[in-house]
Amino acid sequence: MATSSKKINMDTLYADLMNLCSQDDIFYYKDIRLHAINYRIFNCRLCSYGRFMTHPAALNCCGTMFNITNLKHVQLVSLPLEKIFDYEEGFGQQQFHQCGQLGDKMEKMDGSLVSTFLHGRTSQKQVLRLKSKQSLTSNQVLDAMRLLVGDFQSELEQLVRLNYTVNMEYTTPSSHLFVSYSQTQLTILSIRSHADGHTLFGSRLKRFLLENHFLTTLNHLVSFESIPSHVTHRQLLQETYQQTHGEGYVVEIIQPDRSSYLVKIKTQKYFMIYGDGGTEDSPRSLFEAIINRQTDDRRKLFKDDTKTLTRIDEMEQNMRPKYNEMLRLVEEFYRMNKCLPKKDFVHAITTNENMKIYLPLLLRLYANEENDYQGFAMKHAKDLFGISGSAKFKRHASLTIPLFRRNKIILNFDLIIDCTDKLLSQWRSAPSNHIHLDIGQQCRNLLLLIFGFLAFDYDLKTFDSSDHNELTRALKDFLESIYPVFFLPKVVSIIYLKLSRRYRRARTIIQQYVYRIIDHELTECSETIAERKRRSLIASLVSALQNAEKTEMIKSEEEKKGLNRSEVLHEVLFFLLAGYETTSTALTWFIHLASKHPRVQQKIKAELLENNCKQDLSLEHLDSLVYLDCVIMEVLRFCPPADSSCRTLTMDDRLPESGTQLYAGDEVIIPFINLARDPRYWSIDPELFYPERFLGEDKNHQSYALLPFGSGHRQCIGQDLARFELKVIIARLMQDVTFGDGGPEVNAGGFVQTVTIMPKHVGVTVQFD
Ligand code: HEM
Repeated sequence: MATSSKKINMDTLYADLMNLCSQDDIFYYKDIRLHAINYRIFNCRLCSYGRFMTHPAALNCCGTMFNITNLKHVQLVSLPLEKIFDYEEGFGQQQFHQCGQLGDKMEKMDGSLVSTFLHGRTSQKQVLRLKSKQSLTSNQVLDAMRLLVGDFQSELEQLVRLNYTVNMEYTTPSSHLFVSYSQTQLTILSIRSHADGHTLFGSRLKRFLLENHFLTTLNHLVSFESIPSHVTHRQLLQETYQQTHGEGYVVEIIQPDRSSYLVKIKTQKYFMIYGDGGTEDSPRSLFEAIINRQTDDRRKLFKDDTKTLTRIDEMEQNMRPKYNEMLRLVEEFYRMNKCLPKKDFVHAITTNENMKIYLPLLLRLYANEENDYQGFAMKHAKDLFGISGSAKFKRHASLTIPLFRRNKIILNFDLIIDCTDKLLSQWRSAPSNHIHLDIGQQCRNLLLLIFGFLAFDYDLKTFDSSDHNELTRALKDFLESIYPVFFLPKVVSIIYLKLSRRYRRARTIIQQYVYRIIDHELTECSETIAERKRRSLIASLVSALQNAEKTEMIKSEEEKKGLNRSEVLHEVLFFLLAGYETTSTALTWFIHLASKHPRVQQKIKAELLENNCKQDLSLEHLDSLVYLDCVIMEVLRFCPPADSSCRTLTMDDRLPESGTQLYAGDEVIIPFINLARDPRYWSIDPELFYPERFLGEDKNHQSYALLPFGSGHRQCIGQDLARFELKVIIARLMQDVTFGDGGPEVNAGGFVQTVTIMPKHVGVTVQFD
């Protein structure tokens, strides 16, 4: 049944793989000659889970290499990791996994897999080398080999001479898309015995290395931990999915017969970048998923949606053969013509109408370089597969999503406290029975002040009404003049913005500031930039600025890298629009609801006291404030600042229950507020403001019933920042003050719809404890 629990027969592995390739052209091999030694690397093209399960050797096909110089005495030289599937992948597999115990989990890395082998005719002359899945001499492989130095190299060599392949991830600061690495490094994932194919990883590998004194190698081990026995499979899946950093884990499952194998479990962030949850219907996004072998991620996201699953299947059946045919065509042409001198080789390609487009791929094969077939297919998706696309969003997302990672956000703790103190000192100067009727404005001032520091490292002085500077006025004018756009048809809004002097003036001023900051950032020395990049959003965006904008401009979207100046400005304005009003609205709702529920305020204060945060709030204690998390969730459920989001259909569809026909191009609204108050999805009356629900009956609520930040790959990228801001601000306020109800008329609630859903009547007293 399951993956690597199957024992492989090492004696017949070569014959089995050859047999596999002769039976099924999805599996193939490539012969490479290096210094008069002939190697054969086995590999596979795009194929489904089922295909792997029908051939016992298939799991060991990806990258396994033999020395075939003497065909009578073929030798296994490199044995990479067996293919690892997702936890959810494969029909019935989940039930099988659940019969097993969870063992170690190791960090899933975002680099390229490289494996060791010994190269040389005789064992005395053999030297340690690395290979990737397909190549022995690509630049990437050669770069990785430069890291084999000193004790690390000699220990690896010893391991390889003991008949093991060491499998490593090669990561560089530039090649990642998802996880940042500060330096180029080789990280050991596992070692595999050539004698029996057995894999050692995690704690068993650590023990093995310790016992055999491979101490330098030990320092290169991928980070891993043993999963405590009380953690259930469901908990692990849920916790990993909700994790806001990293790609996920490779997890060991130990079956009752003690055989074990690995599965992948991915985070939601992974799906946000790689998985196009929200636009599953988009042919481009599906195409990319197929090419990147991520359709199983998609199936997981849409496991209850048979229509989407059928679409994935159809697209896969359509695209896979086309993609595989492309690979076959290129490799076949190369094989037939590789003996030609280069000039004739190029001539043969350029005079062949069918092959012209593959010139870059063929030239790389000719130069013995590794080919990025997936990248090529995506770049030429339109010409080769008739698919057009979403590369621009991917470029922006890959640059902006990392700005909102937890390790960046938490650096703003003190800043948020300082800004909140400014609000508190303003309240301190008012009489204690004063009813504040402008809480909404005060919350906006606070969040704009924080935004100024976060985005520009600039004091907008929003609490100092006598000293409103030019940028503050421009930002406020920008926001106020742009609001009508949200309610106007697109064409009308374009005309409106062109005619609005207030909007144009405000935008010009903000643009001047942003461009000036960009110029200033560019003149800073690299250390200062690195330090500022840690803190200010714009410094990070500037570091992604394209060096040669003009050259970038004429490139196709797929080839573009970084942002140009106007895109940096656009990002800053977009963060302002998306992040400032939404968070200040949530804070205003909190104050209104707190004034109506003194019990909730008392419980937050008690929690602060219990965790020694009543006087001193610190970042370390923030995670212990669990009740406060529930309060924030309940505020966002009860009064979501954004009431809905929408998606545009890319193909015709029909509503399952009513049968209503929908057409491509129709906009569909997803009403967060209705879902959050629908009694079908909540155990405790959803019309009650009751934070404790998240500790009990409604802890495992229907996941789509609570979507304050949207869902899918276009969900809010600033949600971690928003939650963090709200938590720090509310904790700081609750340390010092209690909000009182200003009376039924002034504190009547209700709502008014602007860009967000704002409370209409808020009137509260602010009492210092
Ligand atoms: C309580 C505060 C916030 C709420 C309720 C909120 C809510 C939302 C919602 C509902 C969406 C649309 C998601 C979808 O269609 O699936 C969204 C998108 C977005 N939000 Fe937020 N947001 C908040 C704070 C922030 C912050 C602080 C930032 C950043 C500074 C931010 C940046 C964004 C961006 C850039 C998008 C567009 C993402 C895309 O189109 O791919 N938001 N937000």
